[in-house]
Amino acid sequence: MSLETVTTIAGLRERLKPARQAGKSVGLVPTMGYLHRGHATLVDHARADTDVVVTSIFVNPLQFGPNEDFARYPRDLDADCRLLAAHGADIVFAPSVEEMYPRPIATHIEVESLSARLEGERRPGHFRGVATVVGKLFNIVQPNRAYFGEKDYQQLQVIRRMVADLSFPLEIVGVPTVRDKDGVALSSRNVYLSPVERAAAPVLSRSLAAAAEAIDGGAVDPLDIEAVIRRALAAEPMAEPDLVAVTAADTLEPVDPKVPPPAIALMIAVRIGRTRLIDQRVVAVP
Ligand code: PAJ
Repeated sequence: MSLETVTTIAGLRERLKPARQAGKSVGLVPTMGYLHRGHATLVDHARADTDVVVTSIFVNPLQFGPNEDFARYPRDLDADCRLLAAHGADIVFAPSVEEMYPRPIATHIEVESLSARLEGERRPGHFRGVATVVGKLFNIVQPNRAYFGEKDYQQLQVIRRMVADLSFPLEIVGVPTVRDKDGVALSSRNVYLSPVERAAAPVLSRSLAAAAEAIDGGAVDPLDIEAVIRRALAAEPMAEPDLVAVTAADTLEPVDPKVPPPAIALMIAVRIGRTRLIDQRVVAVP
């Protein structure tokens, strides 16, 4: 089957009806486009697991703050379609903002507490916008499985909690972060980096590697672990840490050194020039 582009909700439902009647499984990979190898890996997983692979491309205004990069977020639908065709996706769902939100949306999904902390504290309303659009996409596509990257670790946990709390009838699959050779997590936002800034970007994964080594060596006090990350980040003068979080991997609660969790999630957000990059690593506690 070759890649088909669908831009309306009604058109997508129509297109998926026969597949569903034939008992075929549907996999959904929600994205905002400007696709790279990280997104392609999610598509590969969906292709391996499900009969019909749908990728959505929608830069969702609800999840951008007033001073964020909604207008300048990179877009290239033709290149995206070439990548999706090469990875065997069946359908790209690329609705306009008017199609998704014909009038200002009055109904939101708020995953309380999880959404308010960490990234959510720095980006008020962000996870509410993510949960709302993902919930809407789940209702439109009705997938059996949906694929999300661990790179956006808090997002993945927010979606898992939403699906559990609201009994969405599907399985969420988390996929490990795909990186460049120098360790930099692939991101659509990496195109904002100048060559000098791009050369500074490996400091994010390097700082997480240092923390992982400390945890392997027995460190469990979150203050110590945070200090290791901040020290590594300080070695790169262009890097300005915005968030350094050391949390229990499943709940995203702060780590209690007296009762260490089975695994620690390290989450960081770092500004390099005007660009805010995030990275993440989950480390088993020995
Ligand atoms: P976007 O940033 O386009 O990412 C789409 C999906 O690709 C997310 O699940 C993200 O975690 C995953 N992804 C991005 N870079 C990755 C990498 N280097 N390795 C593995 N996975 C990676 O996340 C969003 O869009 C939006 O918030 C969305 C969920 C689509 C809702 O609008």
